[in-house]
Amino acid sequence: MKAWGGRDERAGGSDRDEKMRAIEEAGIDLDPTADDEHDGDHDAGPHSHPHVQSEAGGPPIIGIVGAGAVGTALGVALQRAGWPIHAVASRDAARRERFRGLVPGARGFADAQPLVEEVELIILAVPDDAIPSVAGDLHMYGGQAMIHTSGLLGAEALAGAMAAGTQVGSFHPLVAFADLERAVAALHGATIAIEGDEQLLDLLARMAEVIGATPVRLAPGAKPAYHAAAVLAAGGFVGLLDAIAELGRVAGLDEAGSLAIYGSLIEQTLANARGLGIDAALTGPATRGDRGTFVAHTAAIDRVAPGVAALYRDLAEREVSIAERRGALTPEAAETLRSALAPALATPD
Ligand SMILES: NC(=O)c1ccc[n+]([C@@H]2O[C@H](COP(=O)([O-])OP(=O)(O)OC[C@H]3O[C@@H](n4cnc5c(N)ncnc54)[C@H](OP(=O)(O)O)[C@@H]3O)[C@@H](O)[C@H]2O)c1
Repeated sequence: MKAWGGRDERAGGSDRDEKMRAIEEAGIDLDPTADDEHDGDHDAGPHSHPHVQSEAGGPPIIGIVGAGAVGTALGVALQRAGWPIHAVASRDAARRERFRGLVPGARGFADAQPLVEEVELIILAVPDDAIPSVAGDLHMYGGQAMIHTSGLLGAEALAGAMAAGTQVGSFHPLVAFADLERAVAALHGATIAIEGDEQLLDLLARMAEVIGATPVRLAPGAKPAYHAAAVLAAGGFVGLLDAIAELGRVAGLDEAGSLAIYGSLIEQTLANARGLGIDAALTGPATRGDRGTFVAHTAAIDRVAPGVAALYRDLAEREVSIAERRGALTPEAAETLRSALAPALATPD
């Protein structure tokens, strides 16, 4: 595999490379099980990949583990971009066949290890919680690379699959994979966060670019905050839409009506935030110091949509802080508004 050099080609050599080299020079096999299983397949050292090699300058031979939302969309997008998918592993026959229908030519496996035998780059597109255990059950060969698509976890979640000369990374598309074709289209122009072994990052950047996305490198340790923001922007925003629709129903609007009416207000607000900045985009009672409006809103919400009350109050608190920060409210006026947002005390029966 040429796209990302093996351990001997790594610039300078990290501490881990040094340790690996010393261990191998001492004749210690770090992964005897994998070696035994493939006895006789190769002669290029204990962990070299015996089977496959992509063409010089071409894309790596790719296998995807997990035919769920992300695995399938990435498979379709990469194949359409001229990076063929060699194989998919999914425990579910129907999902596997669906994938193969969408990605012609891909071989299908029920288990992941046979796929690992046939590819250079393994994409683990399985739920976050399953990544370490799925990786831990796999044996990689020198020259292979494995990545996962989690926004939260780092490359170290794949440690269980590593052997000498392998590389690991993560490749997280900032896309909401709710529908296949929409997701494939959204990958074009999306941001993809990449991190992991230094020499793998060039390949991951190319892979992002080939599907029309923009790769970004995150600082070590940044993924949990980065991903929490993504969850607020996607799932959190859907939660907000649901609260808006609940209040809309009380006002006589169905869901489509709420999405139409409030959706255009949302688009306007987003455009204002993009053009003017977040502080300047804030409008509404917090910017005017309208305590009476907050009192009326919270009283009505407590009565007609109590499930929305905590969200409304928490967001209003944040709006008051923004208004104070931008100088629209004095600290005293901000305190007066905050006092209106305190939850009403329950009255005894
Ligand atoms: N959904 C999104 O919007 C989104 C966006 C960016 C990143 N991601 C990340 O992408 C990854 C996959 O998410 P997804 O939304 O594609 O999930 P998904 O639709 O639930 O698909 C997960 C796939 O992994 C397989 N799988 C589940 N549990 C497994 C286990 N214990 N062992 C082996 N395989 C298992 C599934 O089963 P089969 O083997 O039965 O097929 C399925 O094919 C996650 O790390 C997620 O955080 C998701």
